[in-house]
Amino acid sequence: EKGGHKHFMAKEIAEQPTVLADAISHYVSTDGTAITLPDGGLDFTQYDRIVMVACGTANYACLTAKYWFEQIARLPVEVDIASEFRYREPPITARTLAIFVSQSGETADTLAALRYCVDKADKILSVVNVQESSIARESDMALPILAGTEIGVASTKAFTCQLNVLALLALKAAQDRGVMDQQTLSDHLSALRNLPGLMNQALGTADAMKSAARKLAQAQDVLFLGRGAMFPLALEGALKLKEISYIHAEGYASGELKHGPIALVDKKVPVVVIAPSDPLFDKSVSNMQEVMARNGKVILVTDSKGAKDAGDGVWQVLLMPEIEPFLAPILYAIPAQLLAYYTAVAKGTDVDQPRNLAKSVTVE
Ligand code: M6R
Repeated sequence: EKGGHKHFMAKEIAEQPTVLADAISHYVSTDGTAITLPDGGLDFTQYDRIVMVACGTANYACLTAKYWFEQIARLPVEVDIASEFRYREPPITARTLAIFVSQSGETADTLAALRYCVDKADKILSVVNVQESSIARESDMALPILAGTEIGVASTKAFTCQLNVLALLALKAAQDRGVMDQQTLSDHLSALRNLPGLMNQALGTADAMKSAARKLAQAQDVLFLGRGAMFPLALEGALKLKEISYIHAEGYASGELKHGPIALVDKKVPVVVIAPSDPLFDKSVSNMQEVMARNGKVILVTDSKGAKDAGDGVWQVLLMPEIEPFLAPILYAIPAQLLAYYTAVAKGTDVDQPRNLAKSVTVE
């Protein structure tokens, strides 16, 4: 049942290229030029704002999508944690699209937040894995992420499949709102169809991941840094690591380093920097230098150009294939997952059933 893998989590990490390729073909027309949504569709010209609500890893998928919707569709997005949103009772206007993201579709706080938005938002859209779930049933439209059953308590393939659907929605929003031409859309869709192949390459770096994980397994505290759309991934990398290896980990936006967390840095605190080469890369290099100047140990996840530009002094570089910036968050989820997985394996913790955690949080 684990398909030859030691843990469900390993199986679920490994099957991402296949699962994602199927999910992409479900949502992209066979000629690769259009995004296909269920009947009743979505017209993004009707909204002047999106509110996205979720918990845990699903919330980090929403935070990533905020970068996409705002940068490529110029549509303002507010992201909130369901437990905060539901009791804050935020004002919701009729030109708001409310999106709820949940693997299980049964998370109590997310469901309560959804119910709060009924009769307030123009439309309730959910992005779920379990199509028969309460959240799917109570939405105006439910888009399945098509990840297949996810058993490991640490969410992996559901995260990348959530990102896939949210990326497609952002592209659709850009097209509807007239801020992206057909050629650019087709280019993005063709890059998306190449993504599973790149994910396979990322999965091929297991040996390097294991060696980095053996270092992380010695640590008591680990920092994850990312900029732009990689910032939510820093949060996700830290969450994965703490969930299954019980090592204290914090994710920060790289630019926040000197506003506090740098006080923690010394030779015992590894700092994982998730930074594909992009226009902001030199800023990440400055952040790494600040860490290294305090004897901090940097594990840099980047591509070959980034590795070259990072210069000397990096503890370990984990190389990813080149990818267009728009899709980088989906590809770079793989090293975040593998690092946590191999660290937990090195520590001998219960990867699939970590202590104190449940797969589906149906009570608040
Ligand atoms: O089923 P959901 O997507 O609503 O669950 C949300 C969180 O409970 C979930 O993502 C949790 O944070 C995972 N254990 C993360 O690995």
